[in-house]
Amino acid sequence: MSYFSVAVDGPAGAGKSTLARAAAERLGFVYVDTGAIYRTVGLAVKRAGIDRQDASAVAALLPGLSISIRYADGVQHMLLDGEDVSGLIRTPEMSEYASSVSALPAVRAFLMEMQRQMAREHDVIMDGRDIGTVVLPDAGLKVFLTASPEKRAMRRFKELTEKGTAVTYEEVLADMNARDEKDTTRAAAPLRAAEDAVLLDTSDLTLEESVDALEGLIRQRMKEGQA
Ligand code: DC
Repeated sequence: MSYFSVAVDGPAGAGKSTLARAAAERLGFVYVDTGAIYRTVGLAVKRAGIDRQDASAVAALLPGLSISIRYADGVQHMLLDGEDVSGLIRTPEMSEYASSVSALPAVRAFLMEMQRQMAREHDVIMDGRDIGTVVLPDAGLKVFLTASPEKRAMRRFKELTEKGTAVTYEEVLADMNARDEKDTTRAAAPLRAAEDAVLLDTSDLTLEESVDALEGLIRQRMKEGQA
């Protein structure tokens, strides 16, 4: 039996995880958040006391790492050495660590098989930066999700202030622009749309409209595949 894969790539704050998770729920697909896997490597590097930009020290750590994904009630959990670190990896510091380690080719190669394995075993919606270009080049559908930097920063700002984090909109926007710059200009698997990706710009769409659009694209492509 073969499975259907959807690759969702795009910059930070485009709403990839929210939309991919919601569409996966509607379609009965498994949602795979690959950023969480990079974040978990970031946490392991921090715990090991290694400089996160030291490529050879990070590469030496990888073979001994025990990282796995578990699903509980459809929610993805990250395990590091058996410990559920799903909450610990959601800090701004871990965003920085993830961004640094994700620029290292050894880290990307190490995580590739784990991601591909998920797509071999389930219908998946996988979100990340290089899913359509590198991880799943044969995905049934590739979506490049984007929104203007201002819209993305405003959404992230609201999310953070609702959680009680003290930040200004300007800080969030600057942080987002810096991370975009780093993710798009790195040598290893930089963020870019696959040539055959469908562009979905959610700047002027509500959350509901965005999920509808993503679900519609997937259903249409699956129907075309069966025709
Ligand atoms: O999506 P996120 O914010 O959780 O991702 C954290 C970092 O990991 C981000 O800086 C980009 C990187 N990343 C990546 O390089 N490739 C992926 N497939 C997913 C995330």
